[in-house]
Amino acid sequence: MDLTALAEEFGTPLYVYSADAIVERATMLKAAFSTAALNLKTELKTTLCYAVKANSSLAILKMLGAMGCGFDIVSGGELERVKRAAPQSVGKVVFSGVGKQAWEMDAALEAGILLFNVESEAELELLSERAAALGITARIALRVNPDVFAETHPYISTGLSAHKFGIAIARAREVYQRAASLPGLRPEGVSVHIGSQIRAVEPFGQALKRVRSLVEELRADGLPIHFVDAGGGFGIEYGEGAFDPAASVASYAHELSGVLAGLDAELLLEPGRFLVAQAGALVTRVLYTKQNGDKHFVITDAAMNDLIRPALYQAHHEIWPIEKSERASQVADIVGPVCESGDFFARDRETPELRAGDLVALLDAGAYGMSLASHYNTRVHPAEVLVEHGKARLIRRRETLDELIAAEML
Ligand code: LLP
Repeated sequence: MDLTALAEEFGTPLYVYSADAIVERATMLKAAFSTAALNLKTELKTTLCYAVKANSSLAILKMLGAMGCGFDIVSGGELERVKRAAPQSVGKVVFSGVGKQAWEMDAALEAGILLFNVESEAELELLSERAAALGITARIALRVNPDVFAETHPYISTGLSAHKFGIAIARAREVYQRAASLPGLRPEGVSVHIGSQIRAVEPFGQALKRVRSLVEELRADGLPIHFVDAGGGFGIEYGEGAFDPAASVASYAHELSGVLAGLDAELLLEPGRFLVAQAGALVTRVLYTKQNGDKHFVITDAAMNDLIRPALYQAHHEIWPIEKSERASQVADIVGPVCESGDFFARDRETPELRAGDLVALLDAGAYGMSLASHYNTRVHPAEVLVEHGKARLIRRRETLDELIAAEML
């Protein structure tokens, strides 16, 4: 795609996504589980419930819904997006999150979602009350905390007992009994999510082994457990290192399927990053360059409010000039205009020399980029473009300043 032409047509900063790359990843993930089941001579029905938070653009949800995906949501707002973009897929929605409110439960009950992933006993009581009041039975899973360590950034690790997520697995059997005794609830699944951007497959296997034992105990207790929700979290390579997504997802599928072989359960997966991260780039224009003492700075028109991952998780994103150049390389901090020293995309990064007016692309920005964008410094949200079969289409126009301040009163 000619990114220079897109930047000229739609302005910068601009998120650009490849629809084909997203479809390819979803297909790859499904195929990996079919192949693993064949190799292990087992059957394992697998449903992808795309984690909406990774990239919640309506056009992307619509596309994934059309492919037969379900969705993992964490708020009434995300439910509303699914209802609008993929209404036929509402029956394949799982609802996670530690702080579900009554109105969000009501909306999900009325919409007829597949499964509530309940994260505490107090939530269980409230969900029972709401379901009984509406005369609807809620299918539930408890999200168990398996106390498994997985190497990732501490802010996105969730599977240890020190984290706020889930119910300690040791107590789960007892809480399931309570759930089974409450009106309006039907325990049908067990759910787990150990964190995000996890590159090794073993922690997923360890967590699922504990889940499998629990499923067997619950079935012995007479509960009709049908779903195992293994969460999301499978990571990608952000740096220059080689990454073979098909091979790495095959080992993930083999690990999970091996643990679940013969259990006669339906596997739900909540992938976010793996599907969309590498399908997106943030295109930004260099505004200025400057030298402060020994340091060279490149100042772009995108900032931490458009892509917060480097500031928040010290995340690495490759940064490439859009036009090929013969210029010598330079080492610079690539920063945005926001008034914080944490507003950087890269520190001491070697790139070909960048000059004012150049366009650069921040790669692998399709996940947790736009969905984490803020209005900090009263900066409007970027526009978003989706490229389908070589044709680019605006899927979100640039916000106006009037829209940004519209809800405020003097
Ligand atoms: N399911 C649950 C319950 C989750 O909490 C998450 C992510 C996912 C699925 C999807 O995980 P994924 O497959 O995308 O790793 N903002 C951070 C990531 C936060 C992840 C939050 N939960 C980042 O930019 O790295």
